[in-house]
Amino acid sequence: MINLIDKLHKTNNLDYDELVFILDHIEESGKDYLIEKAHETRMKIYGDKVYMRGLIEFTNHCKRGCKYCGINASNKNVERYRLTLENILQCCDVGYNLGYRTFVLQGGEDDYYLDNMIVGVITEIKDKYPDVAVTLSIGEKSYESYEKYYKAGADRYLLRHETASRKLFERIHTNSNYDNRMECLWNLKKIGYQVGAGFMVGIPTQAKEDLAKDILFLKELEPEMVGIGPFIPHRDTIYKYEEGGTLRDTITIIALTRLFLPYSLLPATTALGTIHPLGREQGIKAGANVVMPNLSPTKVREKYSLYDGKICTGDEAAECRSCIENRIVSSGFSIDMSRGDNIKWRTRI
Ligand code: SAM
Ligand code: FES
Repeated sequence: MINLIDKLHKTNNLDYDELVFILDHIEESGKDYLIEKAHETRMKIYGDKVYMRGLIEFTNHCKRGCKYCGINASNKNVERYRLTLENILQCCDVGYNLGYRTFVLQGGEDDYYLDNMIVGVITEIKDKYPDVAVTLSIGEKSYESYEKYYKAGADRYLLRHETASRKLFERIHTNSNYDNRMECLWNLKKIGYQVGAGFMVGIPTQAKEDLAKDILFLKELEPEMVGIGPFIPHRDTIYKYEEGGTLRDTITIIALTRLFLPYSLLPATTALGTIHPLGREQGIKAGANVVMPNLSPTKVREKYSLYDGKICTGDEAAECRSCIENRIVSSGFSIDMSRGDNIKWRTRI
């Protein structure tokens, strides 16, 4: 086991069998060693910095039927909301004054926002704040739409692949297509975005082999960002009685990902902080180097309910910033409020 982890640390790669072997056989001491190596790798490349992104959840309307997701189209118990362009810009103003230089605009797949509206939001933000990076996370769109947003100034796009196993993908989604999701990711790369892929750990029926495929898919795609969080059941979904992903499993996968993709920007997600009070700190110690405090207006936060028990729904943006900053600093890391582009991407352009 230690030999394999050392090999991964040195070469940033393993084959499928080696990776499945690790996932199948790793014991607690092996996990600690893996986390140590992931930490070394992150320190070598990004140092102790943790990059801050301001997250704006601007719509919880969604046309998709992801079976695990609390805001999927079939959930009639969700009180739906949409932020106006003005609301979104107000969130950016608050965020900018708090020092954020990346805004992440996330939402369900909501066709109410036509391309020209999305382009309008991006243009307004970039005109007002030329020094910020805009990240979109609004699901699957056509090549042409992605291109329009990019030309308007969007810098990054988060689209978790959810799972690199076709069978599992089809089991956990209703009206989504595996090939299309994958194609979207390759399209985003081609257009020039800094791309974020990712998946949940502990989704019902997920096997170790599925996780191995996820990591090897990431290795092939080489995204600049990777979002990994535990699956957490939501009361209005068919998975409400299932167990969620565990902290230990999730940080093990984060550490593996740091070693496979040493340059990636890896968030310690809100979901990780939801399943354990020190989840985000542990994620950061295992190689994560991004956090995304919530800038959405507090009155809508509870409504963007992907899973039960989501933390930070009551805090104002400023409180979120100071809470998470204290956590980062007391874990021995430092805050970085800059745009925080992927280092490799920065040297490529
Ligand atoms: N609609 C966009 C998309 O499809 O990429 C972005 C929003 S979507 C809600 C963001 C991510 O939330 C998904 O990619 C999924 O991995 C995660 N998510 C959804 N339901 C979840 C759950 N029950 N537990 C943990 N994460 C969840
Ligand atoms: Fe669309 Fe979750 S099903 S955001």
